[in-house]
Order: sequence, then C-alpha cells, then structure tokens
Amino acid sequence: MDSIRALTISDLSAGYSNRPVLRGMHLAPLEPGKVTALVGPNAAGKSTLLRALAGLIPAKGSVRLGDLDLNALSLAKRAQHVAFMPQTLPQNAELSVLEGVIGALKASPLADFDGSGPETRHRAVDALDRLGILDLAMEGIGRLSGGQRQLASLAQAIVRAPDLLLLDEPTSALDLRHQLDVMTIVRELAREGRIVVVVLHDLTLAASWADHLVVLDRGTVVAEGPPEEALSPSILSGVYGVEARVERCSRGRLHIMVDGPAASSEIRHAS
Ligand SMILES: Nc1ncnc2c1ncn2[C@@H]1O[C@H](COP(=O)(O)OP(=O)(O)OP(=O)(O)O)[C@@H](O)[C@H]1O
Ligand SMILES: [Mg+2]
Repeated sequence: MDSIRALTISDLSAGYSNRPVLRGMHLAPLEPGKVTALVGPNAAGKSTLLRALAGLIPAKGSVRLGDLDLNALSLAKRAQHVAFMPQTLPQNAELSVLEGVIGALKASPLADFDGSGPETRHRAVDALDRLGILDLAMEGIGRLSGGQRQLASLAQAIVRAPDLLLLDEPTSALDLRHQLDVMTIVRELAREGRIVVVVLHDLTLAASWADHLVVLDRGTVVAEGPPEEALSPSILSGVYGVEARVERCSRGRLHIMVDGPAASSEIRHAS
C-alpha cells in the first residue's frame, strides 16, 4: 500500500443540533503503524469524535491525513480513506454475515478496488476468515449472538482496510479469547501501516495493546501519551471518580485496579 501520513486533528468542533460536544479539540498527530486507544467515561464524546472523523456528523476545524483535508472531501471520497465500526451495530437482520461484508465493500469502494467482480467475494471471505467467523458466513445477522454480531460488524470495517480505521468499542461484547484475537488483528492492521483509533472502556486492555492513549472527559482531552503517562491515579480519580492503582504485573504490563470511589467524587451522571 502507498505510504500513509499522519492524521492531524486541530481546532475540531462537532456535536449535534443544540448540543455541542467537542469544542476546538487538538490532538498530537496520530502516526501510521500506531494503535491509539480513546478512553473516557460514558458521554465523554468518544463516539462523537469517531463520527466526526468519519464525516458522519458536521464538524468544523481541521482533520488532515497528510496533506489531504478530509473535511473537504465528499463522503464517498472520504470513505476511500476511512473505515468506521459503530458502537451499536446496524440491524440488517435480513442479510447473511457474508452479504453484510460484501455490502460494505460495495457501498464504499476503495481507490484501488471498485467493489465489483470475483475479488469482492474473496476479500469478504478473507475478512471473515481473519476474524475466525467463516463458519458464520451464511448465517443471518439477526440470528447471531451479541459477540458474533460484533465480529460480523468488525469484518465489515476491516474488509476495506483503508488508511484510517475507527473502531468504536470493538471488544465490548467479546469473551477473553475473542478480545485477544481482535486486539491482535488490530495491531496487525496497524503494523501494515494504517492508523488505528479504537475506543475501549477496559483500561488494562487499552494499556496492554495501544501505543498511545487519549483520555477524553466532557468533550475535552484530559491526557494523551503513552499509556503509563496518560493513566495516572490522579487522572483516573478526576475523570472517572474512582480511586485506582496503576501497577505493573510480573510481566511488566500495566494493570489498572479500582479500589473504590474517589474520596471527593460524587456519582457522575452520563449526560
Ligand atoms: N445522536 C445524538 N443526538 C444528540 N446528542 C447525542 C447524540 N449522540 C450522542 N449525543 C450526546 O453527545 C454526548 C457525547 O456522546 P458520545 O456518544 O460521543 O459519548 P461516548 O463517550 O461515546 O459515551 P459511551 O462510553 O457511553 O459510548 C452525550 O452527552 C450524548 O448525550
Ligand atoms: Mg460511545
């Protein structure tokens, strides 16, 4: 694939009618080959940020992939560079898993592939195989378990595998082995030279797998950097209202353990 350049986000504002969520957000450039985990409490604005980057809600400010101004592109052109996996999965109960993936390919052709011909089916089958759900290919999406449906939705995002992958809580419904498998694939996709942004609530998972963490709270970036810098007990207390420890296990990996509510915190409302 052509070399991809960094994603730079500056002065980004986005939200919904009568509800601004992100106001003038700046982030350090997100580099190809790196996995960025976006974390923060409910209603912090994580999904809003991914939707704004995908061009699905109106946004002001600058979102650039190298020299390319994504906000200046039509949705169809933008989709050649960006794939987005939504947090809540579209209910296409009528379609089979394979049809859903083929549909995703046809809906947003890539620059080097127009979504037609026999290659479409090959790519779709490869994506299902990569996620270990080839045996579900002919199953109706409406008949899947929550975790299976999440994997089917992830297949729809990764089948196109463009420069920028935006994954909104791809592991929230998955068992331990499937979390491991999906995060391994997320890392592989980055290693192939893509920029991957993944929303996660599991901070230990985020710290284990991401190169870079962005902590959002109330539409604002509270911390960003390597996991050990972005996740401190004081940040966790301020953002989540919990008293927590950030410790390395015997294998040197960061673990986040919650001991109780932060002394000074009230119950946070997700609004
Ligand atoms: N479609 C919408 N219309 C109006 N307001 C919305 C819409 N979607 C989200 N919001 C509001 O925007 C704010 C940010 O929501 P968002 O979905 O980005 O949060 P989040 O960080 O993804 O939370 P969660 O962890 O619960 O998924 C919230 O106050 C929410 O109520
Ligand atoms: Mg969300």
